Amino acid sequence: MSQAVLILIKPDGLKKSLTGNILTRLSETKLEIVAAKMVRVSKVLAEEHYKHLKEKPFFGELVRYLQGELHDRKKVMALVYWGKDAIKKCRELAGATNPEEAESTSIRGSYGRITTSGVYENVVHVSSNESEAEREIKLWFSPGEIIVDLYATKEATLKEVKTNIWS
Ligand code: PPS
Repeated sequence: MSQAVLILIKPDGLKKSLTGNILTRLSETKLEIVAAKMVRVSKVLAEEHYKHLKEKPFFGELVRYLQGELHDRKKVMALVYWGKDAIKKCRELAGATNPEEAESTSIRGSYGRITTSGVYENVVHVSSNESEAEREIKLWFSPGEIIVDLYATKEATLKEVKTNIWS
């Protein structure tokens, strides 16, 4: 069954110049990239992404990590992969969430670490299931940024929304 999955290459992955390496590993899945962009992550976005972990002791540090505050790299690469069993395939390649427990050949096993304050610096985020993937993809991307129709959309007229345009 075709499904979509959100992948984030986190600030440590970008700082360690692992982007090409990670994309090459993910290409082994033969899945299709249907959206990709660089994102400067706001506190609001990071908190919303990890909202199910609000009560965890590491929540504050986790938010700072995703924002790039720990790596002097205030950016994340966000991608949507799409195809058969996309979540399972990408999670297998990523390895266990805890980089110490991840298979040594996996992305997290190869490049992740645990910080002295106990936060997993595990290089990539991969959606955990279909409903989380939908929630996360809708959080990180607008419909027009994805080249396939993944979820239902509706037409809306937005008024008085300030935005920057090319001058
Ligand atoms: S998962 O893999 O998404 O199903 O795991 P989940 O439990 O939902 O999310 C855990 C995210 O918190 C990050 N994190 C930690 N988890 C557990 N313990 C510690 N100490 C910890 N530090 C950070 C973990 O990396 C998961 O985020 P992502 O972005 O998915 O890796």
